[in-house]
Amino acid sequence: MSAPLPYVLVLYYSRHGATRAMAEQLAAGVESCRGIEARLRTVPPVSPTCEAVDPEIPDEGAVYASLDDLRHCAGLAIGSPTRFGNMAAPLKHFLDTTSELWLGGALIDKPATAFTSTSSLHGGQESTLLTMLVPLLHHGMVYAGLPYSETELMETTTGGTPYGASHLAGKRSDRTLDDHERQLARAQGRRLSRLALALATLQEPHS
Ligand SMILES: Cc1cc2nc3c(=O)[nH]c(=O)nc-3n(C[C@H](O)[C@H](O)[C@H](O)COP(=O)(O)O)c2cc1C
Repeated sequence: MSAPLPYVLVLYYSRHGATRAMAEQLAAGVESCRGIEARLRTVPPVSPTCEAVDPEIPDEGAVYASLDDLRHCAGLAIGSPTRFGNMAAPLKHFLDTTSELWLGGALIDKPATAFTSTSSLHGGQESTLLTMLVPLLHHGMVYAGLPYSETELMETTTGGTPYGASHLAGKRSDRTLDDHERQLARAQGRRLSRLALALATLQEPHS
């Protein structure tokens, strides 16, 4: 039996579907590289009511991420809607459960990237991407944004930043990804795949 392929974990939270649409484009970019797969996972919403629990299988979209999905990934793409210029609480909540991986150094030297969606053009895409990068640096991950060799970065009038892919979903969250946003999300997935395969050769055994 052949060994399982390495995978990039595409981990996202999405309430209205925009960040999920981006995650799917990133995953397509990952899978355009040979020798690596994309694993799409989401996180459950959090509730101010402590007793509230969500079904184990979400009604739609990807299944919920486990710590093992993160532990064994070759690279991580993390996506969140922008909430007041920052990542959404459900994703932060998941990251706050990863101390065990941090203690064991499980993510050290693995590549990571981030993506986001906003309602307004100047509503905090870059700040969200930068704040999402902070916990990944604590984990020892190697952050990869988007280089300007992706020429859409100079042409876009909507989403797409050197800090990572982004999407302008509009006031009613009903604007679909345009060509520039889609191409940049795919390019980010491809780049992460290449880096994941290259950095895998450097991995030292952590827990
Ligand atoms: C609590 C809350 C805070 C938000 N903060 C911002 C913001 O700071 N800037 C912005 O442009 N959009 C903001 N939005 C809008 C979402 O970022 C936007 O609708 C996003 O595309 C939703 O992604 P989703 O479809 O994946 O859920 C906010 C939405 C909510 C519910």
